[in-house]
Amino acid sequence: MSEILIKNGQIVTSNKVYKSDVLIKDSKIELIDKNIKTNTPNVKIIDAQSMYVLPGAIDPHVHMELPTPAGKSSDDFKTGTLAAIAGGTTTIIDFVTPLRGQSYIEALNLRKKEAEKSLIDYSFHMSPTWWGKNSANEMKKCVIDEGITSFKTYLAYKNTVGISDDILINVMKTARELNALVTLHCENGDIVDFLRNKFISEGKTQAKYHILSRPPEVEAEAVNRAVILSKLVGCPIYIVHVSAKQSIEIIKKTQKSGQRVYAETCPQYLLLNNKIFNKKNFSQTAPYVISPALRTKIHQKKLWNALSDNIINTVATDHCPFNLVGQKDVGINDFTKIPNGAGGVEHRLSLLYTYGVNKNIISINQFVDLVATNPAKIFGLSHRKGKIAKGMDADVVIWNPNKKSIISAKTHKQNCDTNIYENFKIKGLPEIVITNGIIAFENNNVNIDDLKGNYLYRNGIS
Ligand code: URP
Ligand code: ZN
Ligand code: ZN
Repeated sequence: MSEILIKNGQIVTSNKVYKSDVLIKDSKIELIDKNIKTNTPNVKIIDAQSMYVLPGAIDPHVHMELPTPAGKSSDDFKTGTLAAIAGGTTTIIDFVTPLRGQSYIEALNLRKKEAEKSLIDYSFHMSPTWWGKNSANEMKKCVIDEGITSFKTYLAYKNTVGISDDILINVMKTARELNALVTLHCENGDIVDFLRNKFISEGKTQAKYHILSRPPEVEAEAVNRAVILSKLVGCPIYIVHVSAKQSIEIIKKTQKSGQRVYAETCPQYLLLNNKIFNKKNFSQTAPYVISPALRTKIHQKKLWNALSDNIINTVATDHCPFNLVGQKDVGINDFTKIPNGAGGVEHRLSLLYTYGVNKNIISINQFVDLVATNPAKIFGLSHRKGKIAKGMDADVVIWNPNKKSIISAKTHKQNCDTNIYENFKIKGLPEIVITNGIIAFENNNVNIDDLKGNYLYRNGIS
């Protein structure tokens, strides 16, 4: 039996910060109390004086080794989860994206094989990319047999994974019957395609036209449609990577009416804006080609307000890095060929802490809610993750609020030749990260020796 005793730290929950010791036995939190003593001979004692003790964070939106025409996203389940650990994330939810015509369960089994490399616990959202006579039954198998209680739909990317409204309605209806959640990438795919084709036919091929082909209205229209369909079908929804102020207004109004709509944003939409695209050099703009596109500063301000007002429920990353050399650069003469996505899993907590908590926009309790407690609740993991409490999985972050760093691709752990947060200063970083009762990160080093992530069976929405 292994034991870890964390002494003198400040435990952070959704509504409290309090001093207490935490005893971990094997892979679970055994006891939380003042002044815990233990006689176990090989107990590892961590002095967390001046540190916060946080639940291991959950990133409910990552794409490890996502296949695209430019190759797979550059972090696989091993390198991506190593980077996640270094940043304080101890659980990820990735995606199963069946090819059109492929059985959802067959695609799940293949994806499970790829994810065996994960160093931390993981689950998947299933993406119904097509609809056939067995699809409702396959969704049922996902929920009952596999604990996959969320279904991700894309309203953009019409040529590959995007679905039309009739399929979305089928997915929502089936999800409602199964107590499952439908999550949505909200962009009107038809108008995106129209604008992209128009720019290319006019010879407007540079990366900046990516921004112009995906204006905020494209997102807001799809958000509006999603909440209306969700109301009519009676199915709760979760809108991923919200980036536009118009979307926030719709979500706020809908939440006020009592309808169940959850919203997620990501650090890139809080901290980066589309001025980057004024730069002339392809290598300076291509890393920022992500969808939805980066917005103007006013949208950032509204997103921060929405975090502060609890309208946005989670901060995820949409971690999906591509190397500039050999991947992003396939689109040097045609922005539509640049693979969409960027990395973020390693720096989500530090960025949100530095620019949210340290700037008094959100409290440290809201911080914990946004990165751990709310994702656990929304995605059916709160029986074992998302808070520091007796009986929970021993996923724990010893957070040093005074530790400083500067983000750089030269030093980051994720597998990518660029970092969209290059030169960002951060204050507040993990000192120690424990996953399932094992010290995975210490002295700025991830020790992967004993790490093996488990596939997580998730509960339905309550
Ligand atoms: O640009 C992005 N976000 N790429 C990843 C796929 C997605 O849309 O989430
Ligand atoms: Zn998306
Ligand atoms: Zn995504």
